[in-house]
Amino acid sequence: MIFTVAGSMESLIARLRDTLALEKLIGEAPAFLKAIAPLPFVAKGEATVLITGETGTGKELVARAIHYLSPRAAFPFVPANCGRLQDTLLEDELFGHERGAFTDAHTRRDGLIAHAEQGTLFLDEVEALSPKAQVVLLRVLQEKRILALGSSREQEADVRIIAATNAPLAQMVQAGSFRADLYYRLCVFLINLPPLRERKEDVVPLARHFLKKHAPLGREELQIAPSACEALIAYDWPGNVRELENAIIRGASLCQANIVELEDLGLPSIKPDLHSLASVLSSEFCSFNAMKQQAITNFEQSYLNCLMQHYGGNVSHAASAAGKDRRNFGKLLKKHRIDPKHFTAQKV
Ligand SMILES: Nc1ncnc2c1ncn2[C@@H]1O[C@H](COP(=O)(O)OP(=O)(O)OP(=O)(O)O)[C@@H](O)[C@H]1O
Ligand SMILES: [Mg+2]
Repeated sequence: MIFTVAGSMESLIARLRDTLALEKLIGEAPAFLKAIAPLPFVAKGEATVLITGETGTGKELVARAIHYLSPRAAFPFVPANCGRLQDTLLEDELFGHERGAFTDAHTRRDGLIAHAEQGTLFLDEVEALSPKAQVVLLRVLQEKRILALGSSREQEADVRIIAATNAPLAQMVQAGSFRADLYYRLCVFLINLPPLRERKEDVVPLARHFLKKHAPLGREELQIAPSACEALIAYDWPGNVRELENAIIRGASLCQANIVELEDLGLPSIKPDLHSLASVLSSEFCSFNAMKQQAITNFEQSYLNCLMQHYGGNVSHAASAAGKDRRNFGKLLKKHRIDPKHFTAQKV
């Protein structure tokens, strides 16, 4: 992007910051562009935003982009996982407490809302709010005031709320498990992010972006082999952009030369690959045994990758689930060059 230097230094810095914040959002597919088109407009306002989309579609990244494009950018962006807001500690977590408010309150402590003062409070997995938490949050949104535990003085809460969910919240409202009044307060603006399988044009640009981001030091020249690109496009990505990022992290560390090959990505190949089947059939190695071996290899690779993903790289748990002893299971992993380390803490 070319900047014409006009206006004050602050406005130039602000525009640069905007561009950088948006630059991290890779994607040009029509479905994605349509979803994020209102972002600059939404960012300028103060209204609550509800971001929906399957797991790994970029909800938190979009929430951050809204914050950093907003006039609140210089103040904190505070993420809170609603599943962790337990009823017993709810008010304490949200509003904080004064010293001596309860037996263990040895010092005064700010809550999440105070931490996000003048900034943005990001309520992730909002569908997990208990009925009590929904009432408390509704009151915050209506009154914009909070009362810390043990305090007699209410304080104004200057915070913008952005919520996210991968659950069908509108259906939960219909079913009576999520308050309708809270739902409508939350979704003044609704941004629905498409799954990656509906924006296949973005797969390769995203993969190249992640390759740059995760290339090991000194190996920034890594490229993705054309056959690997084809496989990336053909795959359905149930875990969306996060799953793609994890595949590229694996690829970047496993690849031998400067080219990331299909095997390095560790993609589960559950569906028979008709293209390679056809090419094997047309070659001289189309014996029954060769085909059977190929199918077994494909099965072993996808089975092991799925299992390791499920157990977060824990070999003992994965081996026991597979009904194999740990040593033999380890040998299988080695045979397919699957490194358990690449499955630990993959939720980035
Ligand atoms: N359009 C994008 N451009 C670049 N990176 C992206 C994009 N979308 C998602 N990512 C990256 O993919 C990963 C997952 O994104 P994010 O955590 O925002 O997803 P999410 O929708 O909040 O997932 P979940 O529902 O599981 O919490 C992050 O590392 C994020 O930076
Ligand atoms: Mg998230």
